Amino acid sequence: MSFLEEIKRRRTFGIISHPDAGKTTLTEKLLLFGGAIQEAGAVKNNKIKKGATSDFMEIERQRGISVATSVLAFIYKDKKINILDTPGHKDFAEDTFRTLTAVDSVIVVIDVAKGVEEQTEKLVEVCRMRNIPILVFINKLDREGKDAFDLLDEVEQKLGLRVTPMSFPIGMGYSFKGIYNIYNKRLNLFSSNNKQTISEGIEFDDINNSELNEVLGEGSAVSLREELELVYEVYPKFNHREYLDGELQPVFFGSALNNFGVKELLDAFIEIAPEPQPKKAEERLVDSKEEKLTGFVFKIHANMDPKHRDRLAFVKIVSGTFKRNTPYLHVRNGKKVKFSSPNAFFAEKKEIVDESFPGDIVGLHDTGNFKIGDSLTEGEQLNFKEIPSFSPEHFRYVNNADPLKAKQLYKGLDQLMDEGVAQLFTLDLNGRRIIGTVGALQFEVIQYRLEHEYGAKCSYENINVHKACWVQAEDEKNEEFKDFKRIKQRYLAKDKRNQLVFLADSEFTIQMTQNKYPTIAFHYTSEFE
Ligand code: G4P
Repeated sequence: MSFLEEIKRRRTFGIISHPDAGKTTLTEKLLLFGGAIQEAGAVKNNKIKKGATSDFMEIERQRGISVATSVLAFIYKDKKINILDTPGHKDFAEDTFRTLTAVDSVIVVIDVAKGVEEQTEKLVEVCRMRNIPILVFINKLDREGKDAFDLLDEVEQKLGLRVTPMSFPIGMGYSFKGIYNIYNKRLNLFSSNNKQTISEGIEFDDINNSELNEVLGEGSAVSLREELELVYEVYPKFNHREYLDGELQPVFFGSALNNFGVKELLDAFIEIAPEPQPKKAEERLVDSKEEKLTGFVFKIHANMDPKHRDRLAFVKIVSGTFKRNTPYLHVRNGKKVKFSSPNAFFAEKKEIVDESFPGDIVGLHDTGNFKIGDSLTEGEQLNFKEIPSFSPEHFRYVNNADPLKAKQLYKGLDQLMDEGVAQLFTLDLNGRRIIGTVGALQFEVIQYRLEHEYGAKCSYENINVHKACWVQAEDEKNEEFKDFKRIKQRYLAKDKRNQLVFLADSEFTIQMTQNKYPTIAFHYTSEFE
């Protein structure tokens, strides 16, 4: 197969949802279609169990599973599908944001009864910021839930999307009869006693055909016709370009658990979802079809065994062919490196591969040289646009609790921050370190891992910080900026890239400060124009 054909057949995407909407179940059904697994239940649940926050065995178990399920790849109808796993737990949202920099599209799963939930809103917002093509799957149609039109409204309003239904449900819960597939004009009937069987559906080019009455019963046939009429009237027609540009979002209905509507989703997905996309570097736009290798690290996973402190860096190939034992430039530290055992991912296994192509993810063994966001090239000075940091929600001072182990503590903290477990801020005034996290769980994870992997002990101390605001001055030399730096000195810190951050204790403070210093901008993310 030629290089261009290899690119064309790849689909790299993430599935995002609020916990419990059915992401794991859907992933598993997709893998079944690819023949990557033989039975349901084979994909382990990558969830932190409720109430398990202080159970460290649980955290370790999760880390083990999450290496295995970081990338799930399979072949379906000759397409190479790469699903990048995104943790659903909100305390790991930052991980998910980073993974979203490596996908070419996403599928959003929504629970028909719960509708749009908080975590979905946040994740979709990030996708919209990046114009990532989005496909929506409304799940659990075998249960009673919200009316389809109300749900579509909710998706439009809460998620800010512009939807086009590609299928439409007939009834719901007890009276769920099936789905009419608008995309390929087929009717799929649901029967709760033939769960898991996948039918090709019945072709119904014309829903006014009286046969529909016989198949569905008079009442359901009439309401389906009325509803479809409304769909055609109200919603825009599917337009491939608009979908690819992130301006239109196709919606599918189904039940992942019953494997209903999943094949239709997958078939449409491989047809319409984008192949590996160009990626912006600070220097230029890099096209996936360029022959020279480029890629970037979007995730780092530490070894589970504390005696071997090697890590696995996940690299998304942007262009060119990644070859085993070939020297590549690690742009940030200017060194050539080669890899004798790059891992590729299949279903739940990883294997050593000789070649990988744009869209693929390779796992590279690393002894601490990589940081999230690092680029690999064949020699070009390319820096893929930094993966942004978002303001953490929780902040604490971190102190060394064992004076003899200071070196270990700082090394451990550095490496955990490289992995993206949390963010570290250093106060300008006195050099004290502050850890910021998305969820409270990470503080315990850090303490536990420092002790078990680095032999260091830390303690925490409360600090009253509400948000970290990245500071952007119109003119760093003007009096206003100098005044700001002097007055707010106690609240200023540097992040890992040495960017200036204002640690504000309340929303009110941010407002007041903004009013007082109009030429300074305060951002909740480290990426701004
Ligand atoms: P997540 O990864 O998004 O967190 O969700 P997951 O797939 O684990 O699904 C959450 C729960 O919803 C699971 O039940 C799962 O079986 C159920 N589920 C998923 N899809 C459907 C569907 O189409 N219909 C119905 N009725 N249920 C569905 P659980 O009881 O929490 O777990 P389990 O004991 O079944 O594993």
